[in-house]
Parts: sequence; structure tokens; C-alpha cells
Amino acid sequence: MSETETTSQAHGEPTRRDFLYLTTGMAAAVGAASVAWPFIDQMRPDASTLALASIEVDVSSLQPGMSLTAKWRGKPIFIRNRTEKEIEEANAVALSDLKDPVARNSNLPADAQATDVDRSAGKDKENWIVMIGSCTHLGCVPLGQAGEFGGWFCPCHGSHYDTAGRIRKGPAPQNLAIPTFSFVSDTVIKIG
Ligand code: FES
Repeated sequence: MSETETTSQAHGEPTRRDFLYLTTGMAAAVGAASVAWPFIDQMRPDASTLALASIEVDVSSLQPGMSLTAKWRGKPIFIRNRTEKEIEEANAVALSDLKDPVARNSNLPADAQATDVDRSAGKDKENWIVMIGSCTHLGCVPLGQAGEFGGWFCPCHGSHYDTAGRIRKGPAPQNLAIPTFSFVSDTVIKIG
């Protein structure tokens, strides 16, 4: 041990050996951290789960009368670009004729009524309807463009929904639910 090192030790300062020890200690700490990280990382929701928190759906290919089904948080999401005729049919129905007069639209107050515009993406985009494709009876996935009202039909126990996704006949108690969504551009809908 050199005199300088001995002097340093006497003053409580780190010697070269202490320094090497400290350096090694830091490397060990970094090593431990990098070993620990995969375990911590595995405890977080994986990327696919995080991605499901919200999704963006390109609807540019949907001409009037066409629809698609996306998947969001494990549920089917029906997106339909409705025709003028389908919108007119939905608007022609009196609220008093509806089994469920509530909009069930997560983007509106809970007591909003099930008018066609409040079931749709709004006044300027009334042709678009976005719904969770889960029958409100027992959760089957209804078929599109089917049933007595030209909307959706759930074959499990015979629930008929109209072109605004409102329950019109059968055992389902409520209109198809509308998730939180918004247009992030003219052709992309963000859900969630
Ligand atoms: S689950 Fe749809 S009618 Fe029963």
C-alpha cells in the first residue's frame, strides 16, 4: 500500500482499493437492477393489453351500407356506415314505441334519449353508428343487417334491434351499448 493511500485512508477518504470495491458494488447493483427488471416488467400489463385501452379504426373503406367489426377490450365493436334509408327508418320511430327509450350512449349524459341522432355519432355524422356487439339479453353477438327491423338480430333467443341498434322485439332489455368513441380524423375512429 503506498503512503498516499495510507494517508487518504487516515483521513477517511476512499483508497484505490475502496474505490475498486465501490465500483464493483455499483456494477453489482446495476446487474441486480437489470435482472430485477424483467420480473417487474412481467408484472405490468403486456403491450397487447395496453393497446386495448383504446383502439383506432380506419373506416375509410366503409361505403354507405357497409359495416365492420373491430375488437376492443375483448368485445366486438360494430361500426356501420348507414344509408339514408336506414337513418330515415330509425328517425321515423316514435320514442314511445321503443322498449328502451334511453340512448345508452357513453358519450352522452346517462338520461339522453334514444333518438337516432343520439344513438349515432352525432348530427353531422348521423350515418355512423358505433356499438358494442353484445346482446343485452345474455351477451351473444348479434348478426348485422338482419332481423325484422333491418338492423341486428340475435339468434340466441330472438332479439331484434333496429337500424339504430335499439331493441324492438325479443327478450333483450336494452339497446346495444355505445362505447366512448370519437373521430380523430374524417376516416379514423378512436374507441375508448
Ligand atoms: S343473448 Fe341475445 S337474445 Fe338472448
